[in-house]
Amino acid sequence: MDAIITENLTKTYSNGVKALDGVSFAVRPGEIFGLLGPNGAGKSTTVRILATLTFADGGTARVAGHDVRTESEAVRRRIGYVSQASGVDKYQTGRENLTLQGHLVRVPGREQRSRVDELLAWVGLTEAADRTVKTYSGGMKRRLDLAMGLIHKPAVLFLDEPTTGLDPETRATLWQDLQRLRREQDLTVLLTTHYLEEADQLCDRLAIVDHGRVVVEGTPGALKSEIRGDAVTLEVDTETSLVATTLRPLAGVLDVIPNGRSVVARVAHGATAIPSLITALEQQGVGVQSVSLSRPSLDDVYLHHTGHRFSAAADSAATSAPVPETGRGRE
Ligand SMILES: Nc1ncnc2c1ncn2[C@@H]1O[C@H](COP(=O)(O)OP(=O)(O)OP(=O)(O)O)[C@@H](O)[C@H]1O
Ligand SMILES: [Mg+2]
Repeated sequence: MDAIITENLTKTYSNGVKALDGVSFAVRPGEIFGLLGPNGAGKSTTVRILATLTFADGGTARVAGHDVRTESEAVRRRIGYVSQASGVDKYQTGRENLTLQGHLVRVPGREQRSRVDELLAWVGLTEAADRTVKTYSGGMKRRLDLAMGLIHKPAVLFLDEPTTGLDPETRATLWQDLQRLRREQDLTVLLTTHYLEEADQLCDRLAIVDHGRVVVEGTPGALKSEIRGDAVTLEVDTETSLVATTLRPLAGVLDVIPNGRSVVARVAHGATAIPSLITALEQQGVGVQSVSLSRPSLDDVYLHHTGHRFSAAADSAATSAPVPETGRGRE
């Protein structure tokens, strides 16, 4: 049985924003599953529906065997949820935060202390347990968040952007922590991310979310291997549509995708194709400013399925005003 299954979830917020436009995916027990998408794609909305913090307008979802709408109490008992914004009180110590959380989710009194100690040790915060959280580093705070989500031994853990704002080294440490967690505990993890590398390295499987829809789902390896050939990215000084019509008919060219000032040509053999691509463009009077060659990456998977680069989507979303995280409330 799947640990999480969503079918055709839709949601439009009261301000008219259509956040989800039919989200479907399934997560198997014991998996680290990623929802990868740019700002505003609908990742947090999906997680909040699954964590019973908000409702979908349409579609269905089951978590740990229970329907999120009709059996929300049962779902809540089986899940941990770590929001995009940290939920810890910085004026309390790590131990106090965890103990309070244990009371809130009704961990039995006699288990309370040992569970708190065990978790503090588990996330490497034993030494810092009695310091106030405001003295913690970003990575320590995120590890405390993780411990808070685990206090009642959930079967499914939701992590909304667990590594945003962390430096690359701390991020890599947290990936190791999560992998250890999955190995040592009977746990399914659903996390959201807008880091391609995180989705690639950490997740067993992932779904790419774009404009409130899942565009594709699979293991990072399988998604990349569906992309045939190498990517040659050409930066040009002219209309990219002319470039596309010039390159498409050439031998060995599988696909051409214009993207702003550059064009990505998918070719069977990158190194041998580059000279003929450049010659063909020069014959049309197109100046090529730079050329780069790469093996298929998750960015290519994203481009293939959405028609735009992940980094470009992230940039354009960053220029629109972000909606503040609404914390744990319901709407
Ligand atoms: N409480 C809300 N009220 C109105 N609109 C909202 C609310 N929360 C989110 N939205 C809108 O719904 C869309 C999806 O937002 P969501 O937070 O699910 O995206 P996200 O993929 O988590 O983005 P990010 O990477 O920035 O966290 C966005 O257009 C956002 O502006
Ligand atoms: Mg979000």
